[in-house]
Amino acid sequence: MLSGKNIVLGVSGGIAAYKMANVASMLVKLHADVHVVMTRNATHFITAETFEVLTKNKVYIDVFDEADDKAHVPHISLGTGADCILIAPATANVVGKIANGIADDMLTTMVLPARCPILICPSMNVYMLENAIVQDNIRKLKEFGYQIIEPAEGYLACGYEGKGKLPKEEELVEQILLAAACEKDLAGKKVVVSAGPTEEPLDPIRVITNHSSGKMGYAIAKAAAYRGASVTLVSGPTALETPLGVKLVSVHTAEEMFRGVTENAEDADIVIMSAAVADYTPATVADQKIKKKEGDLSIPLKRTKDILLTLGQNKKPGQFICGFSMETENLLENSAAKLEKKNADMICANSLTQEGAGYQVDTNILTLITKEGNEQLPKLSKLEAAHKIFDKILSLQD
Ligand code: CTP
Repeated sequence: MLSGKNIVLGVSGGIAAYKMANVASMLVKLHADVHVVMTRNATHFITAETFEVLTKNKVYIDVFDEADDKAHVPHISLGTGADCILIAPATANVVGKIANGIADDMLTTMVLPARCPILICPSMNVYMLENAIVQDNIRKLKEFGYQIIEPAEGYLACGYEGKGKLPKEEELVEQILLAAACEKDLAGKKVVVSAGPTEEPLDPIRVITNHSSGKMGYAIAKAAAYRGASVTLVSGPTALETPLGVKLVSVHTAEEMFRGVTENAEDADIVIMSAAVADYTPATVADQKIKKKEGDLSIPLKRTKDILLTLGQNKKPGQFICGFSMETENLLENSAAKLEKKNADMICANSLTQEGAGYQVDTNILTLITKEGNEQLPKLSKLEAAHKIFDKILSLQD
């Protein structure tokens, strides 16, 4: 996902510096070209050689370190050539220097000419972090347009408990992906995505639900965030982590999902209904547990509201409404009928009968059905499929 991207890691002298080896390695595995700049103090915690072996690039420490090829002036080219800079861990000293324009080593100098997103992760003892001057410097950095990654809370190496930890390596990599992974072709757009199953209560203990894992909808939300959209994810219960940069609206029932989606869709540019919404809900919910008796039990069900249909009937000018369709037979005919009936702009049809498609799995095989015709996608990861959905939507809006 970071193929062709130049990522610069600025590592300063906190104990968490050792974790940056893992970050560098993860970025290399995502095909990024990774360049590391360290402060002299950082070399007390991890060696430059570690990063050089992992990144296959020279590590810079002093302002007068020369580039191998002599064609570049590293304190300028490192910053100007970067697609994203992550400074982590950022000590109080480095935070203070950058906030005040002090450039007295390679790390604090190379950020000055940079034009790319610069992510700074303050990481230090909880009381140092709470210090009013440090807080003022962090505020200043935000005002100057630097992105601050909030430190995590927990046991700190100095023996204190509290805020100041470097977040997990995976989160740091996610932050870089969010900043640099894709062209920001959805910037300025609001995207609302629904995901997961709904749960319709029968009594205080039991629900009617379905097998949806939410993986497709969460992948769509993530892809939209990578592409720069403002994303609201209306989700039924799932075991998934909310993608970074995405606003989560948690719901349980079809009625809650109806409200969550329709309220957020008011000013949305794109709405994608990938949730598996219950078509029926128990006509009444028992106050107490339904006790078993002799013989069988029938439970009367009533219809829920069709959210996609409501969105299609109330479509705002310029709004793009996309639904999903899951069928066990006559997939394309039934899905095309939903495009018409629900006044949607696109239906993503996925079969339950094909291997590598549908619920729970990490891949999907979609047919994108629009008024222009059908586009059959190959088996893709759900994230790749999500990007194809947005490619299609943007191509239709050209
Ligand atoms: N959908 C919805 N509200 C509902 C039921 C479904 O918005 N109460 C949406 C789904 O999120 C999906 C699309 O409608 O985007 C199609 O869902 P699907 O269950 O495949 O079809 P239905 O319209 O429910 O029709 P049927 O159950 O007869 O196949």
